Amino acid sequence: MTQTTTKRGKFIVFEGTDGCGKSTQMSMLAKYLTGMGVECYTTHEPTDSLFGAQLRACMSGRLDADERAIAALFAADRLDHITNSVNGIMGKLDAGVTVLCDRYYLSSFAYNSGAAPLEWVIGLNRLAMEMLPPDLTVYIDVPVEVSARRLGRRNERERYETQEKQLTVHKTYLQLFERFRETEHIEIVKSEANKEDTQKHIREIVNGLFGF
Ligand code: TYD
Repeated sequence: MTQTTTKRGKFIVFEGTDGCGKSTQMSMLAKYLTGMGVECYTTHEPTDSLFGAQLRACMSGRLDADERAIAALFAADRLDHITNSVNGIMGKLDAGVTVLCDRYYLSSFAYNSGAAPLEWVIGLNRLAMEMLPPDLTVYIDVPVEVSARRLGRRNERERYETQEKQLTVHKTYLQLFERFRETEHIEIVKSEANKEDTQKHIREIVNGLFGF
């Protein structure tokens, strides 16, 4: 009897401050990879599940909640995102699909620490870190003034969308990259004025991951 083994898909995460352009870069990459014959699934956190809906309500201000409750809810949303039997990331990867995810646990560490101690937030996400570390995390590095200008054009402001918070978030991300440099594959990509140029850098990194 011949047995076919499916090659596991790659798990690629995009991180960055609000308005950094990661969702645009992620969909450009999905298009590229699909063209290269890689089956892709794009997803995001907060998710579209009921956990994610609660989080979106908190982000928009429709629901007020304690920062620690929000941090715990993000961790729950993530665990469900990983393990869900219908469209969980783990199942997709096992089926050979490459998963591109807009935000993952580094977002929790960068955004939800402060009011809640960082070590506690890391503890909440320990299981996700052990179960499913990304094969690659791409951090889109954009000056906070630039992303603030982009966010300023939107009509509504979300919970964390102040320039002060974004500066703290960016600083925390950089500290986290130092801390996890041995255990996580993180690449910082400077956001260029032209989005095609940014994408070119991302593709070079991703080509290496796939051996193209
Ligand atoms: P995002 O989807 O990037 O924003 P949008 O779709 O509105 O452009 O993320 C929504 C917000 O959620 C963002 O401010 C960051 C925050 N967030 C956390 O605070 N912790 C987390 O773990 C995640 C995944 C997101």
